[in-house]
Amino acid sequence: MSDDIKKGLLGIVVDETNVSQVMPDINSLTYRGYAVQDLCEKCNFEEVAYLVLNGELPNKKQLKKFIKDERLNRKLSKQVLNDIQKMPKKAHPMDVVRTAVSLMALEDKDTKDNSPKANMRKAIRIFSKTPTALAAFFRSRKGKKIIHPKKNLSFSENFFNMCFGKVPEKEIIKAFDVSLILYAEHSFNVSTFTARTITSSLSDIHGAITGAIASLKGPLHGGANEEVMHMMSKIKKPEKAFNWINNALDKKEVVMGFGHRVYKKGDSRVPTMEKYFKKVSKIKKDKKFIKIYEIVKNVMINRKNIHPNVDYPTGPTYHLMGFDTDIFTPIFVISRITGWSAHIMEQHAANKLIRPLSKYSGAKHRKVMLLNQR
Ligand code: COA
Repeated sequence: MSDDIKKGLLGIVVDETNVSQVMPDINSLTYRGYAVQDLCEKCNFEEVAYLVLNGELPNKKQLKKFIKDERLNRKLSKQVLNDIQKMPKKAHPMDVVRTAVSLMALEDKDTKDNSPKANMRKAIRIFSKTPTALAAFFRSRKGKKIIHPKKNLSFSENFFNMCFGKVPEKEIIKAFDVSLILYAEHSFNVSTFTARTITSSLSDIHGAITGAIASLKGPLHGGANEEVMHMMSKIKKPEKAFNWINNALDKKEVVMGFGHRVYKKGDSRVPTMEKYFKKVSKIKKDKKFIKIYEIVKNVMINRKNIHPNVDYPTGPTYHLMGFDTDIFTPIFVISRITGWSAHIMEQHAANKLIRPLSKYSGAKHRKVMLLNQR
């Protein structure tokens, strides 16, 4: 392959952004200039969602209005709710949320308006409604009655309530909030770049987010948190973990939840998520997953010098919280909608059609000869 081809856009800087900065050398990630670890300890998810979308942390009045808007927009239309209940029970919830966002576009009164104000209104509506769509499917596929959103609950409390019919301990809500904060934004990853590419043709935000969800589903991106749980289920017991992971490496298998295109010395989000994974394990009185987690992590670092990424601790954390494994990546979606929307608005503000070149390697120029002339 010729040297001027950068497969996977490896090392290519394609644009500027002021949404977030990934600094692999100092193992740091900032949203709008604030360290993500600091945001996790000092803010709730709604405050960080506001920051990602608007560029600044909210004052009291701004936060109150943002929370009010988010809560007022949670309900789905009857038609979308009915459509979700009719979806095949075996459908992957990522496909359901992707379809739900597409359906929302059909009835959004601003669909054709790409102005900054309309885009912000639509971003908030997608942000508010997608958890409702996910929770509705989570319950309806099990034959359970749908629980409608409640205006007196926070974003995370409401999501738990819509899924399980109750709000868990505040430590569990905090751990869930932290996972959403860590998932909210991560510069030009593949799904965000997908959203920006779709936007660059001046298409609309529902389409860009629909495309981003499709991209996030892949196991090399967001789908890794589900794969981590499948791996832990296969390992079954801590006593089997050491041999299992060594065998996998002997067979040259890719171990999900490890490695990263940008971070080569460790993912800046992992220590914070590990801390909350341990808290959740303690509350749930579970030692099995923490033990498996540590054994696999140590082997990966000692044998391959490959560190865990954020999907490694979120997988078992969501499992202990009671979520089905195929709901993990859609949970990533309900958070990343903030980051995608911020990037979509940034792309619109200084747009240039994204259209790279390719080096042709197909058949040489030839003349059309119809079969009966040969
Ligand atoms: N398990 C085993 N080996 C891994 C690995 C993993 N998770 N991640 C990277 N490696 C190895 C590769 O096999 C390769 O080895 P080689 O040079 O001997 O061929 C080397 O490390 C470089 O990996 P590469 O795939 O070229 O790096 P990348 O930057 O293109 O890929 C990922 C990054 C994320 C796609 C990759 O690490 C991966 O597939 N991870 C698992 C999926 C995952 O957790 N994704 C979520 C990311 S947040």
